[in-house]
Amino acid sequence: MNSDPLVRLEEVKKYFPIGGSFFRRNTAHVRAVDCVTLSISKGETLGLVGESGCGKTTLGRLILQIETLTDGKIYIEGKNIVTADRNEMRLLRRQMQIIFQDPYSSLNPRKTVAEIIGAPLVIQNIVRTRRERDEKVLELIMEVGLRSEHLYNYPHEFSGGQRQRIGIARALALKPKLIVCDEPVSALDVSVQAQVVNLLQDLQERFGLTYLFISHDLAVVEQISNRVAVMYLGRIVELAFSETIYQDPKHPYTKALISASPIPDPQVKKTPIVLEGDVPSPINPPEGCHFHPRCVKAFDSCKKGVPELIEVAKGHYVRCFLYL
Ligand SMILES: Nc1ncnc2c1ncn2[C@@H]1O[C@H](COP(=O)(O)OP(=O)(O)O)[C@@H](O)[C@H]1O
Ligand code: SF4
Ligand SMILES: [Mg+2]
Repeated sequence: MNSDPLVRLEEVKKYFPIGGSFFRRNTAHVRAVDCVTLSISKGETLGLVGESGCGKTTLGRLILQIETLTDGKIYIEGKNIVTADRNEMRLLRRQMQIIFQDPYSSLNPRKTVAEIIGAPLVIQNIVRTRRERDEKVLELIMEVGLRSEHLYNYPHEFSGGQRQRIGIARALALKPKLIVCDEPVSALDVSVQAQVVNLLQDLQERFGLTYLFISHDLAVVEQISNRVAVMYLGRIVELAFSETIYQDPKHPYTKALISASPIPDPQVKKTPIVLEGDVPSPINPPEGCHFHPRCVKAFDSCKKGVPELIEVAKGHYVRCFLYL
């Protein structure tokens, strides 16, 4: 792992306007991502966890420039994506790909594997004939553990795990540096999950890939991540090396998530913490620390001020008044 950041986010915000119309100015916003600052080093896997709706997918889409920023800065290899010109942007886009949770709905059912995986190669003029395309696709499908006879099959002829392999091969086609894996194994059976995670790890080593690995499942994230960022209602509440997050979590939200997740290491003592209620709406998030209505440790100040993300030990950041 190299310490140069491939991606750097500075005070990144994404507010989605809601309830507005052409005549009426928008009155409310969904604060999907609220002031996120973090870096992803070259060759690293950064896990991003948190309950549904906390802004994980939006954060990934902002990095990939599928969503535009409301505020803040994103640098890819030191280049500011907002000020990059069209040509630079095209190159940056090629370096970043995404793998989705549901490989079925992201694969066109009327196209063959050769057409699906070959599409980015054709669009970018990397291959010019059908034969060239099929040769390249063949290499890619072998790389992800599919077989040559799969080349002209359709998505419905594959199992869930195989479909995810097709999605991975498609993401690899343009030799990206970063892959945003958005819940890539959440729709798969547990036994298949491990195979896909192992494949992603092998490919990372072979091609020097960097991953942003998004999941609501802490156990999956632990296996693959070097560091883990925990997100709650648009904010990063804890960020640390993977072992630290599991062995020595500090934020009450992280503790609750871990106590609710099966931990492979029986040495780690767990006192179950019940996380009551759902994540509040990001339209009107609770004042102060967003987590206070559900926090067992909350005290008066938590309702007023917003805690900063503080470095409590080397590389271990926590956003909670208990650690000031
Ligand atoms: N295009 C959009 N317009 C309005 N709200 C959105 C849009 N995309 C996401 N959101 C809202 O932003 C919040 C974060 O969503 P998302 O990033 O998908 O969370 P996660 O991936 O953690 O489940 C949610 O409240 C969601 O409803
Ligand atoms: S700041 Fe207060 S409410 Fe927020 S996590 Fe810490 S103790 Fe709980
Ligand atoms: Mg999501």
